Amino acid sequence: MTSYILSIVLLATVVVELECGTNFTKPVFNVMTPYSWAKDRYVNETVTDESNVMYNGEVCQIVNLNLLMRHVARYPSLYWIRRMKNLHKMMKQNPDVVKKHNFLKTWIIPFAEENAYSMSALGNEEATTLGRTFGEKFKQLFEGKMDLIDYTITSKEVTQQSFHAFHKSLNETILADAPMPIPTVDDERLRFYSKCKKYRTYSDKSNVEYDAFFGGTKMRTIVDKIKKLLGVKNLKTEQVITMHQICAFELGIFNQSDWCSFFTLDDLIVLDYLFDLSHFWQRGFGYPINWQMSCPFTRHMLKRFDDIIAYQIETTVADIQFAHSYTLLPVYTAFGLFKDSNTLLANNFESHKSRLFRVSSACPFSANLGTALYKCGVSGNFVVKMFVNEEEVNIPACGSKVCLYQDFKQAYKLLGDCDFQKICKTQ
Ligand SMILES: *[C@@H]1O[C@H](CO)[C@@H](O)[C@H](O)[C@H]1NC(C)=O
Ligand SMILES: *[C@@H]1O[C@H](CO)[C@@H](O)[C@H](O)[C@H]1NC(C)=O
Ligand SMILES: *[C@@H]1O[C@H](CO)[C@@H](O)[C@H](O)[C@H]1NC(C)=O
Ligand SMILES: *[C@@H]1O[C@H](CO)[C@@H](O)[C@H](O)[C@H]1NC(C)=O
Repeated sequence: MTSYILSIVLLATVVVELECGTNFTKPVFNVMTPYSWAKDRYVNETVTDESNVMYNGEVCQIVNLNLLMRHVARYPSLYWIRRMKNLHKMMKQNPDVVKKHNFLKTWIIPFAEENAYSMSALGNEEATTLGRTFGEKFKQLFEGKMDLIDYTITSKEVTQQSFHAFHKSLNETILADAPMPIPTVDDERLRFYSKCKKYRTYSDKSNVEYDAFFGGTKMRTIVDKIKKLLGVKNLKTEQVITMHQICAFELGIFNQSDWCSFFTLDDLIVLDYLFDLSHFWQRGFGYPINWQMSCPFTRHMLKRFDDIIAYQIETTVADIQFAHSYTLLPVYTAFGLFKDSNTLLANNFESHKSRLFRVSSACPFSANLGTALYKCGVSGNFVVKMFVNEEEVNIPACGSKVCLYQDFKQAYKLLGDCDFQKICKTQ
């Protein structure tokens, strides 16, 4: 009797999970992954104060923070909203498909065209959480100095919205009463990829591995399975990708999506690799130009640290910048973060199952890279720490969590002494 009840309960759970995809709230949705899913733990965790660090037995105190944040969760772009609508319209016209998947009859796209690419309610939550955690993490840096923070955004509205929501929460955390700062718009520093001619000519040619995986057996298996589920003869891989987009955005924003029922977790993992292939070759270690072009950002950061050290006056305590996945991934790569020993290829999915270059966890919505400069009390040394999505990481420059600034600077010499015009010149 007990086992009978138990099996009904288990069955019910499985059905609910399959229907709603609630089991999918994991970092498997590539750049569409909500921030909280990309973290092992979240919500209620106590924030560690990072204002001080021990180095060689002495206490070092924070003097500057460079924070590069990807914009918060947003609605899909117009391009995708239109593709979603068209796909649904087509499916709805087939009575056999609707009979099998009743939700298609009543489904209405929950993303309005006028909201395309702008901050969602989930995004507002992300900014609020991050404003609070960064405020708590670096309280000593910000307290009484809120007017010494330099904010920078891009020409895209979602970065402005991210800035606003983040600032509101930081201001509440620090209990500051400074006037609303006006962020600088700097597309050269934060959207360097849009200004770099050489990169643009490269990236057109760099989708070979993505294309091979796209047309390969792993993807074909998924498409064939969904074809069967729908009961249709023809279904393009592009259409499966559109279904995946709906699943990702609905699940992220509403915690529920009937469209997720076409996928298993294994399918999502395959699709995640497909997208990682594209990022690896277009924004990761695939080509040197991918990281070289981040010069305006890295040069600004290192120059700021140099100035702080040279003049030792407190004119700026932090650069807080809101940008895009296309910004963050080249910058991670420039610092050598998430580097695997092998290149990502269409034919080595299996051997890359525990790869470091994993966009779902490194670059979800609101992903952030913090680089903090500390001054050590007795020796006067300066040291650096890096934080990815709030967690301290081993810095490739010195192989540990705290680097002497002079070692950091030496290792990243090319990132400080770079010439963007020269890097991006096409012969
Ligand atoms: C849900 O996730 C758990 C653990 O992550 C796994 O064991 C289970 O098989 C998953 N269920 C479905 C329906 O994917
Ligand atoms: C968070 O922690 C507080 C106190 O430790 C507890 O009362 C609350 O239930 C927790 N909330 C969640 C969502 O875990
Ligand atoms: C910051 O918070 C204070 C309350 O602590 C409020 O009076 C003030 O208007 C806020 N400033 C901005 C720019 O939001
Ligand atoms: C989704 O679930 C999370 C966590 O359970 C909750 O905080 C959030 O409010 C939910 N969002 C919606 C739109 O229901």
